[in-house]
Amino acid sequence: MPKWPSVASTFLLAGLSTGAAQQPCARCHASEVTAFENSPMGRSISPPTVFTEGRIVHKLSGSTLTVSKDGPVLEHSLDRHGVTTKYPVAYSVGAGIVGYSYIVRLGQYLYQSPISYYTQTKGWDLTPGYETDPNLDFTHQISSGCLFCHTGSVNLVKGTVNRFSDPPFTSISCERCHGPSAAHLSNPVPGSIVNPAKLTAARRDSVCEQCHLEGDARILNPGRDWWDFQSGQATESVFATYLKTSDPDHLRAVSQSELLARSQCATQSGGRLWCGTCHNPHGDPQNRAQEIQKVCLSCHAAIFKAGAHQPAEECTSCHMPRLRPTNVAHSAVTDHSIPRVPHQSRTAEGPELKAWREPPDPVLARRDLGLAYFDLATASRAAPDLQHAYQLLSQLPSSARQNDPPVEAGLASILLAQDQVKLAVQLFRNAVIQQPSDARYAYCLGAALERAGDFREAVNQLRRSIALDPSQPDAYLELAQFYKKTGHEAESLDALRDYQRFRSVN
Ligand code: HEC
Ligand code: HEC
Ligand code: HEC
Ligand code: HEC
Ligand code: HEC
Ligand code: HEC
Ligand code: HEC
Repeated sequence: MPKWPSVASTFLLAGLSTGAAQQPCARCHASEVTAFENSPMGRSISPPTVFTEGRIVHKLSGSTLTVSKDGPVLEHSLDRHGVTTKYPVAYSVGAGIVGYSYIVRLGQYLYQSPISYYTQTKGWDLTPGYETDPNLDFTHQISSGCLFCHTGSVNLVKGTVNRFSDPPFTSISCERCHGPSAAHLSNPVPGSIVNPAKLTAARRDSVCEQCHLEGDARILNPGRDWWDFQSGQATESVFATYLKTSDPDHLRAVSQSELLARSQCATQSGGRLWCGTCHNPHGDPQNRAQEIQKVCLSCHAAIFKAGAHQPAEECTSCHMPRLRPTNVAHSAVTDHSIPRVPHQSRTAEGPELKAWREPPDPVLARRDLGLAYFDLATASRAAPDLQHAYQLLSQLPSSARQNDPPVEAGLASILLAQDQVKLAVQLFRNAVIQQPSDARYAYCLGAALERAGDFREAVNQLRRSIALDPSQPDAYLELAQFYKKTGHEAESLDALRDYQRFRSVN
């Protein structure tokens, strides 16, 4: 196997512009700029900084993963069945508090590395989620949705999932919390730019929730993209977030936003307590215990004055301990539910989904909830989730359903699973007509047509999907299987080779 062409490391590392986007602010707000750039959020994506060597054996997939250094380039490689493939690492995700994940680049396409670095153990291990993957490889796409929380902006090529023009992204910028800055730059006065602390509760909380509340499903409103969200809005104007319901005594240690929303401090203080009360992205990380104690005492001084609580130098060791979530390896979350006595962290979840905040319009609310159940079902394959999704989506008014490709494609997938092939083809076709440049819809239509016995058109759509986005393996595999089943061995091998060629040319 040839070594991957070692794309000039300067090219890989040049892609990231950091300071540039924030330059115009530094002139007048030097201290805010410096503090943010040095904070973990300001350093959440960068060229790799850790260059130690390492080796991981993954028995399930029969692979050995190796980390090495080639000149200034960090290399991750995969060895399976005697075949070694090397990938120069382009970017490192995370500021290293828990650790770093890595992005490799094939041409303009970005993929996640199955190798991560963990700060606590100072060592390399599998990226969360890969432990149970029998085909572990460098094929997980880095989508615009993944980068939404770790970057300031992206240069995604339209219609693709993971193809980016240069530079592929910038680091998290002032605008992600302060919204558009043009008006402020031409008239730099208070009020001409968003100050999160001055917004009403839902809009204020949305500033942090856009990245700190992943939920169990996040659904984009019709025709929207993640990057349409601007600070100053409530997230529901662009996307809705859904969470599994759970018993209030059983905390799911998933996000600080969810936990804080459960605290009596938040629910009984009339919306005064928010993320910014205890965290200032421009603040000084020194003396945290004292800083937090001051915040707590701003509301709770009375019980200490009355002698009803023994004096305390700090408050978090008893009331905000670390929880260890069972759903993420190597990770821990501070208990933002501020309990009287420490909780157990458990992941007891109910089967129902609930909106974090309901979208403003009832039809939209049903549509987003239906798609959220569909999202869950694609991962869980659970019949009740699929049923909920079908009920909600199929009962939407036809005017809302028909011009909404995600709804049509969702319904089509459910119908296909129930062998209603003809209807499924029709709905996938509608999605393709409305979004002809979407490779995923072309692939789905191709697969459905194959089930319907329309082989010629099926092959057309699968090939169209590959032309639109040659980085997704599904359409090649579908073609290869189809040819094999129908006795066309040579064509089947060709389809697989086409994919190999894409991987090795890029
Ligand atoms: C020419 C100087 C100048 C530049 C450049 C500038 N600002 Fe300001 N900014 C100001 C002044 C003056 C104020 C008002 C300060 C005050 O009242 O304390 C301000 C206030 C703010 C506030 C608080 C607004 C409020 O209503 O509370 C924010 C947030 C802010 N700036 C962000 C930015 C960001 C982000 C940039 C870069 C995109 C930027 N500023 C560029 C001068 C500037
Ligand atoms: C554009 C996405 C984004 C937004 C908006 C955002 N965060 Fe973050 N935040 C992150 C990411 C990503 C990390 C993890 C950084 C790392 O370690 O790589 C993080 C880490 C943090 C941390 C832990 C590290 C530290 O600095 O102590 C705190 C606290 C935090 N964010 C608070 C906030 C608050 C408060 C807001 C709203 C005012 C906010 N964040 C808005 C993405 C975001
Ligand atoms: C919904 C927003 C969101 C998405 C999507 C997201 N992240 Fe994160 N990520 C965060 C936040 C917020 C943190 C900090 C969490 C904390 O400290 O509690 C974080 C932490 C991390 C860390 C640990 C950073 C450190 O300093 O230890 C890594 C690594 C990471 N994310 C990688 C990724 C990768 C790779 C993807 C895409 C495949 C991704 N994340 C998708 C929000 C997100
Ligand atoms: C992660 C979210 C986040 C990012 C990114 C961010 N800020 Fe802020 N900023 C805030 C919050 C929250 C406040 C309000 C702090 C407070 O008053 O409690 C604030 C306040 C400010 C203020 C007003 C300070 C004051 O006197 O009240 C300025 C100026 C400012 N930010 C500039 C910037 C600049 C410049 C950048 C880019 C380098 C930036 N911010 C990036 C969250 C952010
Ligand atoms: C904005 C005001 C505010 C802040 C800040 C605040 N709290 Fe509270 N807290 C409340 C209110 C209101 C209640 C409910 C009524 C009460 O017990 O006083 C409460 C309740 C509590 C309770 C009892 C919870 C229960 O389940 O019975 C504890 C413990 C507590 N707070 C600790 C803290 C600690 C520790 C901090 C700092 C990390 C803090 N609070 C910050 C307002 C606040
Ligand atoms: C009452 C105070 C308080 C509030 C309000 C608060 N935090 Fe925290 N947060 C803390 C403390 C204390 C820590 C422990 C580390 C430290 O001191 O910063 C922490 C840690 C974090 C971390 C680092 C990872 C972890 O869990 O240890 C993130 C990320 C974070 N908070 C995000 C948020 C977000 C988002 C919000 C709003 C939903 C929020 N916090 C509201 C006090 C608070
Ligand atoms: C050594 C552990 C410890 C520390 C440190 C601590 N607390 Fe507590 N706190 C407790 C315990 C235990 C209770 C519950 C007492 C009970 O239920 O009778 C409590 C109860 C409370 C309550 C609820 C009181 C009520 O009756 O509703 C508040 C509010 C509170 N603490 C605030 C604080 C603040 C603010 C700090 C920091 C200045 C702090 N605590 C530090 C252990 C601690």
